[in-house]
Amino acid sequence: MEKRWWHNSVVYQIYPRSFCDSNNDGIGDLQGIISKLDYLQGLGIDVIWLSPVYQSPMDDNGYDISDYQAIAAEFGTMEDMKRLMQQAEDRGIKVVMDLVVNHTSDEHAWFVEAKSDKNSQYRDFYIWRDTDENGEAPSDIGSIFGGSAWQWDEENQQYYFHLFSKRQPDLNWENPEVHQKVFDMMNWWIDQGIGGFRLDVIDLIGKEVDKKITGDGERLHPLLQKMNQATFGDKDLLTVGETWGATPESAQLYSDPARHELSMVFQFEHITLLWEDGDKWKPKPLDLALFKQVMTKWQVELNNKGWNSLFWNNHDLPRVVSKYGCDGQYRVESAKMLATTLHMMKGTPYIFQGEEIGMTNVAFDTLEEYKDIETLNFYRVKTESGVSHESMMKGIHANSRDNARAPMHWDNSDNAGFTQGTPWIKLNPNYPEINVAAALEDKNSIFYHYQKLIALRKQNPVIVYGDFIPLFETHSAVFAYERKDNDQHLVVLNNFSAEPQTLALPEHIANRSVECLISNLEPTTQLGSELILAPYQSLVLAL
Ligand code: NOJ
Repeated sequence: MEKRWWHNSVVYQIYPRSFCDSNNDGIGDLQGIISKLDYLQGLGIDVIWLSPVYQSPMDDNGYDISDYQAIAAEFGTMEDMKRLMQQAEDRGIKVVMDLVVNHTSDEHAWFVEAKSDKNSQYRDFYIWRDTDENGEAPSDIGSIFGGSAWQWDEENQQYYFHLFSKRQPDLNWENPEVHQKVFDMMNWWIDQGIGGFRLDVIDLIGKEVDKKITGDGERLHPLLQKMNQATFGDKDLLTVGETWGATPESAQLYSDPARHELSMVFQFEHITLLWEDGDKWKPKPLDLALFKQVMTKWQVELNNKGWNSLFWNNHDLPRVVSKYGCDGQYRVESAKMLATTLHMMKGTPYIFQGEEIGMTNVAFDTLEEYKDIETLNFYRVKTESGVSHESMMKGIHANSRDNARAPMHWDNSDNAGFTQGTPWIKLNPNYPEINVAAALEDKNSIFYHYQKLIALRKQNPVIVYGDFIPLFETHSAVFAYERKDNDQHLVVLNNFSAEPQTLALPEHIANRSVECLISNLEPTTQLGSELILAPYQSLVLAL
């Protein structure tokens, strides 16, 4: 496989609203991000994925865009954006923009015109339908944020289609004029010198609503090929699609370089494994054996046929240490172990802000403290349909998107140094203990573990390109694997439990002297026939 710069890159996701507030309005902003670039350079990351900063009424915190070529005033100006890109570039960091083109805001000029004038050239940019023969919505397609995907528009006496909030009308990708407008906009951003795009819910753009097809429509891959050709195809950019429905087979279609679609996609199989019946409000505990099967399948099946993206969490998901580790007694050990598990796999790792210091889930006491539209909508819809308050709050504590969106902890001053104003959302009260300043002062901190993992990736091609070979496949508490190429051979061992685990080592590993590349407890340099892993211990050994 031809080598690409993003194969050995590590991406850091910034959720601007919650990262750093420079003007004390309680909302993070671009100047705030600029002020933390040295910190990010110190961590060693190569790319920033910036969640949306475009002009937006913020119904969904910026995933509802009203002007793709303007910056939201609360985040700054286009000048600030250019400054951010320049200052990032000066530090060897690229900026990947979030491309949200499944839908726009209802305040986007296209929608405003489409809604006010049936003869407008923009009418067909959106999906309008009459009532069905019974005077009801055209179909029972549901919105991903709860309720129907069809919104009745009194003025037009028609429904319009929205897969997210009713203030996020879906663009009509069956209309080639939409393609052209979107491609022009993408090329404008490419000309500004961005490092690529993260394509929001891109697997939905091939939808055919009359056939009730939303995800993975037949039109999807041809559309991506058209987009590739019209925009980033001949540029050296990183493109990552958000694809909740991806399977290893479809991920090959997206990411096989010969097909000219995307660099890689985010798959969510390891995430939804912890949802009962696919319902995120019904959390279920980690079944490590199953989890390993899923991760192994992706590693093996995309090998040399496409490219994996590797992530534990993002702005839509709970904090990794709370979800897959232990955010109490073993917070530090388990956060490092989880980081090692992911960063030693094949693919491009993504770090979500605060993950590198082991930030934990929030558990706000009352619903009113939550700000996320999905959380609030679902609370209403589910409790109206009979789900109890207690059950919903349990789901919200486990999986609300606000777990990730509570502000970043910079230090132990008021509001964790995030703002000197009133923060737009409550902070996690554990910031006096868990914060960047404390992490930087402690040479054994989670931060330095991430820094080392990133450095190891740069120094050891086997981590980037080597084969992945599972070890102890059926073990229910240890996730272990080997990475191997012609020159190097690594063994990665991770204890996902709070109990010690004794492993009988296979012959090719037992009784060898090894180099320990990274560990979260005492390093091991000589192996016997057995190895005892302490609670949450992780080891990367070079044979
Ligand atoms: C996925 C984004 O990650 C999420 O935050 C957003 O609400 C939806 N797409 C709609 O844009």
